[in-house]
Amino acid sequence: MDKAGVPAISPNEAVTHLEQALNQARAEIETLKQAQAQEKKQREQIELDLRASQRMLQLVMDTLPEAIFWKDRNSTYLGCNQNFADDAGLSSPEEIVGKTDFDMPWKREETEFYRACDRRVILSGKAELGITEPQLNSEGKQTWLETNKAPLHDSSGRIIGILGTYQDITERKQAEIALQELNQKLELQTIELTAALEQLQQSQLQLIQREKMSALGNLIAGVAHEISNPVGFLSGNLQPAKDYVKDLFELLDLYQQEVSHPGPAIAEKIDIIELDYLREDLPKLLHSMQEGIRRIASISTSLRTFSRADTEHRVPFQLHEGLDSTLLILKHRLKANEQRPAIQIIQDYGEVPPIRCFPGQLNQVFMNLLANAVDALDESNQGKSFSEIQAQPNRITITTQLSADQQWAIIKIKDNGIGVTKDIKHKIFDNLFTTKGVGKGTGLGLAIARQIIVEKHGGKIEFDSELGQGTEFAIEIPVTTV
Ligand SMILES: Nc1ncnc2c1ncn2[C@@H]1O[C@H](COP(=O)(O)OP(=O)(O)O)[C@@H](O)[C@H]1O
Ligand SMILES: [Mg+2]
Repeated sequence: MDKAGVPAISPNEAVTHLEQALNQARAEIETLKQAQAQEKKQREQIELDLRASQRMLQLVMDTLPEAIFWKDRNSTYLGCNQNFADDAGLSSPEEIVGKTDFDMPWKREETEFYRACDRRVILSGKAELGITEPQLNSEGKQTWLETNKAPLHDSSGRIIGILGTYQDITERKQAEIALQELNQKLELQTIELTAALEQLQQSQLQLIQREKMSALGNLIAGVAHEISNPVGFLSGNLQPAKDYVKDLFELLDLYQQEVSHPGPAIAEKIDIIELDYLREDLPKLLHSMQEGIRRIASISTSLRTFSRADTEHRVPFQLHEGLDSTLLILKHRLKANEQRPAIQIIQDYGEVPPIRCFPGQLNQVFMNLLANAVDALDESNQGKSFSEIQAQPNRITITTQLSADQQWAIIKIKDNGIGVTKDIKHKIFDNLFTTKGVGKGTGLGLAIARQIIVEKHGGKIEFDSELGQGTEFAIEIPVTTV
């Protein structure tokens, strides 16, 4: 025993103990070493796996057609894929780390645009998708991108940066721009074509109508000319005829005085021919013949006025003559017929000097407006009896006057016919617009009237109408234009 009371062991025992302890320690070390090796192997495996999955991730990212990048909250790059590195002019994606857009080949304003967008996404926490933006890439090529940017969150939900992807849409964008330009060009062409077509239609209508009017004019002029000769012949011979008759009557008187007892044959003849009545009636008859001839002569003059050949230049024209001659041409439509009494025509002509214009064309306008008025009256007569119409007669009022400043000749043509319904008021001057049946209306009258008044004469044409009450057209033509 030693001093501490520990039983003393023999040296052999001590050695054995030591050896045992040593062996145990060795075994433990061995176990530890094995465990360490195991752990190292595991760690190496994990690292291998990690690298493999990183490579896989990179491979995935590099295979995607999009460029991919991610940045921290300050828009400093943390990583990207190969596509992005290519656009940025970097030889590998790793080089991006720590760089900002200011280090990239993009233009200054592009960089600022990207960073502003980054800030918005980081502050709002909301992704921005489908942003179309320009980018000057490392090859100096100006491209168009369609970019998506989304906030990146850490495990606690805090926004730590942004993830962005984009696709090069330059070709699409260029096609879009080209298409837009093409569309614009097309639109412009369509507008031009439409205008040209309208112009063409107008002139075609004009031509047709002018052709008709000129055929009518020629016909009327021909008739007027043919009438004027025999009329002149008649009126030239009527006076001598009257004189001869007077002479003969005087001679008869003389006979009666000289021969107081004519034979029975003469007495019988006097009886048969009713000499007294004949003597009374013959001068009257001659007189009415003369009246008739005078009327034919005046009609002939009117016809000639109406058919005045259209001149290339404006000529002075008395509007009232034009209106009167047009009324004459339309007389057959104004006369009484079985359905209605004659249409009353009120000519309220003011003091209007001759104005410089194209008379043939103005007559055409008067004709179109007056014919429309007659149509409107006929339509309002539908379902009314003769006496009902008589109680409220069909009436056309033609008023002429000078404007207060004497600059315009104003012609108003008013009817108390059917009127114009509200829904068609804006259309009645349109080409080919008509409410009349096939064969009755062409829809040309007012379109042509407007063309002649507005474009040819620099005037105005307007109308006012109340349904069932009537319609008034007002034309204004400048007086002094040369
Ligand atoms: N005085 C009027 N009263 C009522 N409607 C009218 C009158 N004048 C024109 N209109 C309306 O305007 C349309 C177009 O007239 P217009 O161009 O002369 O063609 P059309 O007489 O061949 O129909 C007519 O169909 C008619 O509906
Ligand atoms: Mg008409």
